[in-house]
Amino acid sequence: MTNQKKRILTGDRPTGKLHLGHYVGTLKNRVKLQHEYETYILIADVQALTTHYEQPGLIKQSVREVALDYLAVGIDPNVSTICVQSLIPEIAELTVFYGLITNMNKLRHNPTTKSEAQQLGLIQGEDLMTGFDQLTYGFFGYPVSQAADITFVNANLVPVGKDQLPHIELCRDIVRKFNGMFGTSIVEPEALIGDAFLTALDGSAKMSKSLGNAIFISDDPDSIKAQVNRAVTDPARIHATDPGTPEICNVYKYHKVFSPDFLEEATERCRAGSIGCVTCKKALMANINSLLEPFRDRRKEYEAKPKEIDEILIEGTRRARKEGSKTLEHIREKMGIDYFSNVTNTQID
Ligand code: TRP
Repeated sequence: MTNQKKRILTGDRPTGKLHLGHYVGTLKNRVKLQHEYETYILIADVQALTTHYEQPGLIKQSVREVALDYLAVGIDPNVSTICVQSLIPEIAELTVFYGLITNMNKLRHNPTTKSEAQQLGLIQGEDLMTGFDQLTYGFFGYPVSQAADITFVNANLVPVGKDQLPHIELCRDIVRKFNGMFGTSIVEPEALIGDAFLTALDGSAKMSKSLGNAIFISDDPDSIKAQVNRAVTDPARIHATDPGTPEICNVYKYHKVFSPDFLEEATERCRAGSIGCVTCKKALMANINSLLEPFRDRRKEYEAKPKEIDEILIEGTRRARKEGSKTLEHIREKMGIDYFSNVTNTQID
């Protein structure tokens, strides 16, 4: 045992700005965990391209937006390492090595890729290996690449939402098999599942840009107002004096997350019909705004110095690559593909 801090790696696909669901589900936790663990945060642009390869412009723009979101919510670039996937060739190399031993059936039956493929219309029916004219090798195999994302720095823990569990399980499988086969000592990571999950205010299961129901971390008070005003409350309440059922109200769900000091009062007064939905919504707007206000300030500071954001990403990527090249050197040696002493594939020129 060393007294080194345990390592975390987690990441996001840069397909747009991050929203309150991201904040509650994982970002808030990361801000706290960064002081307890050595933290790597990967902007997974290559993974984003597996679904958005026809929109590289969106990904390019989102890399910086996501970085800004991280910095705005309090990820400290002096404490955490923020890095960019496409600039880390070690991840690509490790993906190929993992592909050598990854079982096709494991990929075929991954419930997360399956439901994503269905939503995106990449498959017809249930099976990733029938009716798959639209499905690409890159998308089908992205969980292998995600295993490489996690292990190129030998992360111990991966803080993610529940939907990512099949990917972490696959990663563990791959690592066990790989270590068993080649005698490598790649760390088998564990998932750290966030408990909070935020549905959208309109009652949809998911916040999404295309549904127009997302509250983005970078939203201004007017956008918050518009979103909260659209929220679906208890449909049986026509008048402010009608007694309500908070459990079926979307605004109430948000009060549970954003208004700990107001929750009891809101519950009682809703049931008693002594608070109207409009007042209740105003209280929610105020609380969301007071959470986001310091984030807006920090965002503004960083927006004024775009060079600094680039520098943070470049420096973070450099640090991550340093770790990655150690990992890959070990792996190549154990695999027996270190044919020439003093010449590795990254040094041959
Ligand atoms: N698949 C993750 C998501 O959609 C993003 C991701 C990419 C990731 N690489 C990762 C998460 C590595 C954790 C670890 O949210």
